[in-house]
Amino acid sequence: MARFCMQLNTTLAMAFAKENTEQKSNPNRVELPEKVKNSRILILGGTGRVGGSTAIALSKFCPDLSIIIGGRNREKGTAMVAKLGHNSEFAEVDIDDNKSLEATLNGVDLVVHAAGPFQQAEKCTVLEAAVQTKTAYIDVCDDMSYSRRAKSYMNKALDAAIPAITTGGIYPGVSNGSQEYITEIFDSGMNSISTFEEETDQP
Ligand SMILES: NC(=O)c1ccc[n+]([C@@H]2O[C@H](COP(=O)([O-])OP(=O)(O)OC[C@H]3O[C@@H](n4cnc5c(N)ncnc54)[C@H](OP(=O)(O)O)[C@@H]3O)[C@@H](O)[C@H]2O)c1
Repeated sequence: MARFCMQLNTTLAMAFAKENTEQKSNPNRVELPEKVKNSRILILGGTGRVGGSTAIALSKFCPDLSIIIGGRNREKGTAMVAKLGHNSEFAEVDIDDNKSLEATLNGVDLVVHAAGPFQQAEKCTVLEAAVQTKTAYIDVCDDMSYSRRAKSYMNKALDAAIPAITTGGIYPGVSNGSQEYITEIFDSGMNSISTFEEETDQP
């Protein structure tokens, strides 16, 4: 028993030291809950501007995540994977080809859809495949009709028990969210604003 306790202590001390070293070597690291920290994230459009920035940020802040860069161009995909380094791979996929899309989604925990333009898309192929394969979904859509079409999948997403977020990019996602947050502050009275100023010690 004493030997077992000593071994346990040593293991815990080593785990703690490893965590400390990781935190020091990467102060930007975000600690995710244990059950999601090793998730597989597919970024469609990961060779583009928005998807590429998302991939770089995720791999920097959460290096334990496995990142799959999805796109049609292997050369661009390989270049992005080289930039990301460990825990990343490329998957050749066309979002207009349902079979390849569903095959790529298998075994993925979350799909980030940044393969625009959304303006020209007639169908929500990625959301449909996410529902079919029961994969969590978020897109960076910036088009009203696509957004409305995506929202019509709500019941299907509920039946599949997956979180599905549409229009989650900077515009209008984050900007609308910020506006709603500010409205809530005003609705709750001006005291909240002065409290914020006091708390942050800003002029
Ligand atoms: N909500 C917001 O705040 C916000 C802001 C900026 C952009 N956006 C939206 O996000 C989209 C992407 O913007 P971006 O600047 O990153 O564009 P981008 O640099 O042109 O990237 C587009 C990406 O989509 C991929 N792609 C296009 N068609 C595809 C298909 N059929 N199958 C698989 N991959 C495909 C491209 O890869 P391959 O060509 O290599 O396959 C590329 O990686 C925009 O079109 C816009 O609608 C939203």
